[in-house]
Amino acid sequence: YLQKVKDKGTLVVGTSADYPPYEFTVKQSGKTNYVGLDIEIAKKFAKNLGVKLEIKNMNFDSLLVALETHKVDAVISGMNPTPERQKSVDFSNIYYRGKQYMLINKKDAALYKNIHSFKNKT
Ligand code: ARG
Repeated sequence: YLQKVKDKGTLVVGTSADYPPYEFTVKQSGKTNYVGLDIEIAKKFAKNLGVKLEIKNMNFDSLLVALETHKVDAVISGMNPTPERQKSVDFSNIYYRGKQYMLINKKDAALYKNIHSFKNKT
């Protein structure tokens, strides 16, 4: 399949550009540009293959169908490899694992030790 992409000279990547900082749009002098971490990865990918990159923007829910029907060559869209999705498509290795935290005020630290501390508190 990679040879096919090379032959046609363009890698078509599907994304749903509504998910900063992974993929989103910026308007520059009337032109819409796709930016974000995933877009940078897609650019590198195309560059390494020696082909042009074409981003196809669509609803997140349409991405897997677009891939299965070959409307796009690949998908990059901050998508987690769930067992359900893995039934129909082949995920790459994980390239980013988010570390996100919830914050509370320091003075409340003793009050909220863990998730169970949030029970019956108003
Ligand atoms: N990470 C979540 C998932 O895999 C949401 C991804 C949404 N991505 C997007 N480009 N809108 O379901």
